[in-house]
Amino acid sequence: MTIQISPRFSRNADIVLYEGDCLELLKTLPNNFVSLIVTSPPYNLGKEYEKKSDLTNYIKKQVSVIEQCARVLKENGSICWQVGNFVDNCEVIPLDIILYPIFHKLKLQLRNRIIWHFGHGLHASKRFSGRYETILWFTKNSNYLFKLDPVRVPQKYPNKKHFKGPKRGTLSGNPLGKNPGDVWIIPNVKANHVEKTSHPCQFPVELIERLVLSMTNEGDWVLDPYIGTGSTAIAALIHNRKSVGAEIMPDYVKIAKHRLKQADQGTLRIRPLERMVYDPIGSAENIPPKVVGLNGKLQPRLFEERGKYKKRGG
Ligand SMILES: C[S@@+](CC[C@H](N)C(=O)[O-])C[C@H]1O[C@@H](n2cnc3c(N)ncnc32)[C@H](O)[C@@H]1O
Repeated sequence: MTIQISPRFSRNADIVLYEGDCLELLKTLPNNFVSLIVTSPPYNLGKEYEKKSDLTNYIKKQVSVIEQCARVLKENGSICWQVGNFVDNCEVIPLDIILYPIFHKLKLQLRNRIIWHFGHGLHASKRFSGRYETILWFTKNSNYLFKLDPVRVPQKYPNKKHFKGPKRGTLSGNPLGKNPGDVWIIPNVKANHVEKTSHPCQFPVELIERLVLSMTNEGDWVLDPYIGTGSTAIAALIHNRKSVGAEIMPDYVKIAKHRLKQADQGTLRIRPLERMVYDPIGSAENIPPKVVGLNGKLQPRLFEERGKYKKRGG
């Protein structure tokens, strides 16, 4: 391995992967240290890694973690809290609505409530099937780091020109692409996804890449207090950022280490950000999964040529 993975906090590490409770790790981090915190906390659904508790207890635990996160966040940094719904007796309770007051009380300012839309999940029979979750993006103040250019997406009409006035004949849209907006259509990691591990709810790496590229600079630290299979660390490292995170389940720590090792060796496969969402009609014209490596060896690029590829057996 060329990258340094440390089991406890060290400024010299490339990655800090703490096996244990995130509060223990958080307490060892300095004030104003990380540039971006991105995480998906347990949803209190009774998954194998969490004990379902009453909502008040759940919120109390989240308060302690979020308070520590606010402490370790740099003044120009960002917190992105990705959540879905808590379901109690078939009643849906949106966690972002429940958690928002915690951030507000800490004087964190909401910049976007990003809707992450995906196509797969449980099929409901007594309500519409849930097909989105949200990312609450907060900053400490209005002087925050945000870069649009690295995450622009292709314009709908790239060659559209001004048809009158002094700019007549020149491109009317930014040639680098448009703002991706606050509704992100990104496949979730289910059975056939190239990044799928045994974890029931991993982040797609591309979801985190967009946050890392727009909210941090190279060399910055990215924290995920509930790091699971290490998706946040992968997104940070393939873009030359450093990563710190905690995971309470030893099996997921093992998977995270394995994925990081694959990335280090240049054999980790991820779904590229620029790959279109599956379209049964135009499925042959798409961008295949890509292999990525760390330290600039095989950096993914957002504006690669769309390639034609044949599906296996096709
Ligand atoms: C929603 S999952 C996050 C998955 C992660 N985003 C990924 O891409 O793999 C939440 C994770 O938090 C872990 N977890 C739960 N309580 C924890 C705690 N107190 N400290 C650290 N990790 C915890 C769970 O084991 C689970 O892997």
